Amino acid sequence: MASKIKSVYVCSSCGYENPKWYGRCPSCGEWDTLEERVVSNEPASIAKLKSGSLERGVSQKIKDIQSDGEHRYMTGLSEFDRVLGGGIVKGSLVLLSGDPGIGKSTILLQVCQYLGQQLKILYVSGEESAHQIKLRADRLGVDTDNLFVMAETDVEIICEHIKSDKPDLVIVDSIQTVMLSELSSSCGSITQVRESTNYIMRTAKDFNIPVIIVGHVNKDGNIAGPKVLEHVVDAVLYIEGERNYNYRILRAVKNRYGSTNEIGVFEMLDNGLHQVENPSMMMLSGRPKNSSGSCVACAMEGSRPILAEVQGLVTPTTFGNPRRMANGFDYNRLSMILAVLEKRCGYFFGNMDVYLNVVGGLKLYEPAADLSVAMALVSSLKDAVVREDVLAFGEIGLAGEVRSVSHCEQRVKEAARLGFTKVVIPKDNLKSISKELTSEIEIIGVKYLSQAFEEII
Ligand code: TYD
Ligand code: MG
Repeated sequence: MASKIKSVYVCSSCGYENPKWYGRCPSCGEWDTLEERVVSNEPASIAKLKSGSLERGVSQKIKDIQSDGEHRYMTGLSEFDRVLGGGIVKGSLVLLSGDPGIGKSTILLQVCQYLGQQLKILYVSGEESAHQIKLRADRLGVDTDNLFVMAETDVEIICEHIKSDKPDLVIVDSIQTVMLSELSSSCGSITQVRESTNYIMRTAKDFNIPVIIVGHVNKDGNIAGPKVLEHVVDAVLYIEGERNYNYRILRAVKNRYGSTNEIGVFEMLDNGLHQVENPSMMMLSGRPKNSSGSCVACAMEGSRPILAEVQGLVTPTTFGNPRRMANGFDYNRLSMILAVLEKRCGYFFGNMDVYLNVVGGLKLYEPAADLSVAMALVSSLKDAVVREDVLAFGEIGLAGEVRSVSHCEQRVKEAARLGFTKVVIPKDNLKSISKELTSEIEIIGVKYLSQAFEEII
C-alpha cells in the first residue's frame, strides 16, 4: 500500500510544486529555491469522516441570510471608485499591483487625503520611512489629521496595532516588505507573502476593516508570489502604463464586488496622479497626419467607449520567415485577420513582416477592433492614407464578412463627440442607430470587408 505521508517540493519564489527535488526551479529558473513540504495523502476531513468524529455542517436558505447591503467608502477619485465597482467595500481586501515606480504609493496617498476627512487611516510602509512619506505627502498636498503613518515590517506588530487602534482603513505598502518573524523564509518569498496576507486578512475581517495591500510585479509581469494572493483577496487592481508616457491605466482583473472591465485613466503630473476625464482625446493626441497605416478604433472599456489609434506597418521580409508582432492586440487574432485578408480580399502578406501597435498602452481585446486593424494593415500595405476623420469598427468573420458588435450607438456617439465625420460600421448594426445621430455624422454600414476598403482607402 502506498504511504499516506508524502512530500512535495515547493519553489519559494514562484510556488511551483513538484514531487522531485531540483536544484533549479523548472518554472521560474531560480536556483536552490525548492523546499520540502510534507503533505498527507489523506485529507484530515476524510480521516475524521472515517472515525465518525466529523460534525455535520449547517446550510441556510439564501432568503434567510441577513444582508445589510455593502457599505462602500468613496475615495474622492471617481476613476478609482469606478474600477472598484463604486468605492472601497467595508471589510474587503484589495490588492493593488504594478511595476515599480508606476504610482501605487502615490495614488494611495492621494486617496487618503479625501478619505481622511471622515475616516481614520493607518498607512503601513515597509519601504519608506515616515519622513519620506511625509515629504511625498507634502508634495501631493496631503495634510489630513486622520492619516497615521507606521514604518514597520513585522506583521504581528502591525496587526496588534490594528487591533488596539481600530482604524477605518489600512494600507500596507508593500506586502513584499512585511514578514512574519516565526517563518524562516526570507522577506518577499512566496510563503511569507501568503502567510502575511492571511494574517492581516484575519485581523482585518475580525473588525470588518478594509485593507489595501500593495504588491510588486516581478520581471515576468506577475505579482510576486504570484497567483496565491489573487485567490485570497477580494479585488486585484493593476496600474499599467509606459514609463515614457505620463498616463496610467488602472484596471481590475478580479473584483468580487463589481465588474472587471472598467478602467480608470490617470495622468502623472508633478503633484501626483490626475484623473483624465476625456481619455479618447488623450489617446488620440499626437496622431500623425496624412500617414498610411493608421486607423482609429473604438473599444468599450466597461460602460465607456474609448477611441484608440491602431497602427500597422507592413514591410518586405529580409530573412526567411516573415515576422508578425502585435502590441496591445491578440497575436492569434492578428494572424486570423491576415489570413482573411489574403483569402477573401486578395491582399498578400506572405512575404511581408507585419507590425501592429495600439498607441497609448491600451489593450484592444475586443473583436470590434478587427476592422480598424484590417484597415491599418491594408493602408500600410498599399501605402494609402485612411482619412483622419474616419473611424471604423466591426468584427471580422472568416468568410470576410463584417459582423455586428455591441454598444454600437455609444461608439458612434463618442466618434461624433470627438469630431469624426464618417464612421464605418457593420451593416447589421445600422438599425440600432437613432435618427438624430445620422445628422451629426455620416454612418456607412458594410457587409463585407472589401466594401469597407472601398469606403475608406
Ligand atoms: P510611486 O508612487 O512611488 O510608485 P510605486 O509606489 O508604484 O513604486 O511613484 C513614483 C514615481 O512617480 C516616480 O517615478 C516619480 C513619479 N511621481 C511624479 O511624477 N509626480 C508625483 O507627484 C509623485 C509623487 C511621483
Ligand atoms: Mg511605492
